[in-house]
Amino acid sequence: MPAPDLPPPPTHTITQRPLHVHLHPQLTTPDDFAGGVVIVIDALRASVTMTAAIAHGATCVIPTLSVEDALAARDALAAASHTPILLGGERGGVRIEGFDLDNSPLAYTPQRVRDRVVVFTTTNGTAALLHARHAASILVGSFANLDAMTDAVAHDPRPVHILCAGTRDLISEDDILPAGAMVERLIGMGRQLVADDSGRLAAHAWRGALATPGGVVEAMRQSRGGRNLANIGLGADVDYCATPNTLGVVPVFDLASGRITRR
Ligand code: MLT
Repeated sequence: MPAPDLPPPPTHTITQRPLHVHLHPQLTTPDDFAGGVVIVIDALRASVTMTAAIAHGATCVIPTLSVEDALAARDALAAASHTPILLGGERGGVRIEGFDLDNSPLAYTPQRVRDRVVVFTTTNGTAALLHARHAASILVGSFANLDAMTDAVAHDPRPVHILCAGTRDLISEDDILPAGAMVERLIGMGRQLVADDSGRLAAHAWRGALATPGGVVEAMRQSRGGRNLANIGLGADVDYCATPNTLGVVPVFDLASGRITRR
């Protein structure tokens, strides 16, 4: 005999300035974000790399789903203007053949990106951004812009969704740790977690990482994304991406133009 349904949750007052956390894009549909603000977190490394490009003076970042889309966007832009364009991103964690830059935030220096358009594609990060396409506002978040991001959304009257990009179809702790740090800060600023437990899980993971030897940097190294990057010799990127507030800008993705710029 099937188990009976649980009783409905107790009625409670309407959540003020609601805060949702989604541990993986596949646990959501684009419609879930309608009318809300989405912070997309691919902490290792796409969010940090896009933020570095914007902080260091790139004209904009154009995120695309596939390598073919990136090449088509580059060609269309080159045909329409003389703006210098860089192709950036990764597949398998490394630079795509024929691209100018990989997905290391450390490569997106002012000297390299200032006044250039960066057309960018990564395995999970750019896909998560495009998954959020029905949101009213889409932002790019990570440890690198933790305080700037939480300050920017704390008092927004719209629902705020933190969307963790994951690694392919798996949940990644490296995205959940900065999500938890944002939850803690936003709750402290008066936002209210919605009833599901994803936000609570993220906050527990964050507090747990803070309390362990080696702290957050070590937890990021031990995460799925951290281990993958260490295996291909990119441990320095993990340490950089685990450091809070290195880049104090809030990149915003305007779907109509397809461009990410500084908010
Ligand atoms: C991604 O978007 O899949 C990641 O940023 C992968 C990576 O770190 O290169």
